[in-house]
Amino acid sequence: MSPFRITRILPEDATDAALRADVRAGLTGSPRTLPPKWFYDARGSELFDQITELPEYYPTRAERKILAARAGAIAAASGAATLVELGSGSSEKTRYLLDALTGLRAYVPVDVSESALVGAGRAIAAERPGLDVHALIADFTGALELPDTPGPRLLAFLGGTIGNLLPAERAAFLASVRSALAPGDTLLLGTDLVKNEAELVRAYDDAAGVTAAFDKNVLSVVNRELGADFDLAAFEHVAVWDAEREWIEMRLRARTAQTVKIKELDLAVDFAAGEELRTEVSAKFREEGVRAELAAAGLTAVHWWTDPAGRFALSLSTP
Ligand code: AVJ
Repeated sequence: MSPFRITRILPEDATDAALRADVRAGLTGSPRTLPPKWFYDARGSELFDQITELPEYYPTRAERKILAARAGAIAAASGAATLVELGSGSSEKTRYLLDALTGLRAYVPVDVSESALVGAGRAIAAERPGLDVHALIADFTGALELPDTPGPRLLAFLGGTIGNLLPAERAAFLASVRSALAPGDTLLLGTDLVKNEAELVRAYDDAAGVTAAFDKNVLSVVNRELGADFDLAAFEHVAVWDAEREWIEMRLRARTAQTVKIKELDLAVDFAAGEELRTEVSAKFREEGVRAELAAAGLTAVHWWTDPAGRFALSLSTP
């Protein structure tokens, strides 16, 4: 059994303050929004894991295919002694990298979900003697403070989660990644690709209603954490493709006019019938766009791999 350490970068009260600030700003603004990072309490993380197994939700399978085919090439190109994984969640796809990286000494999973980190981190530490597992509970959209583990580092940001950031946030995030990388380090980035609208919308509005439950779970989080009285049944899950900005939006649409009280914020929010609350942006990319965004942050994509169907891409970049 190798060491498993968990460090909370964001103290619990900072998480709470961030949630309060996000909910106040998002529910009083126009249009109303909530940031997607608040989906992932224990229930939300579990629902997301179920999403990855839905027939309609292709990104996880497509990315896994690329990892299965290219893990050896990624390992050879990175030569990493430390694997840092941002938004690691259940670390399900990480195994391909852990198996291929023969000189690996440390694994640093970083996630906002403590439940996901503990489960996955402990399992990996138990399975891999000699691997130092140092989990970080952190919001990786802030400054990246990484533990002092051996280099070179491979920083992986998989799943297409970068698509949850708005363009300006993406630029800031990539710049902060760039500044955390030393010469010889590499960035492995997963990006979902633009494809036909019907396939995209289906992936975010599945027939079994799992994505709808995941979407509404953010309301349960606000109810529990801030004493709000959202009635989940009074909202309908909606997925829309924005063809101009090339992103999927998930929204919760009020079925009727209603007032929601958020006790701990001393706030009452009126929803008109049909009014929508945006809960997630999931941007889809093209190769030229990804290369340009990386370049703008001082990163050079040296490899670009897609699955055979061209649905998803992994890029490997150097500073
Ligand atoms: C985990 C952010 C990659 O945007 O596809 C899945 C989250 N939302 N279904 C995505 C999600 C709705 C997912 N990421």
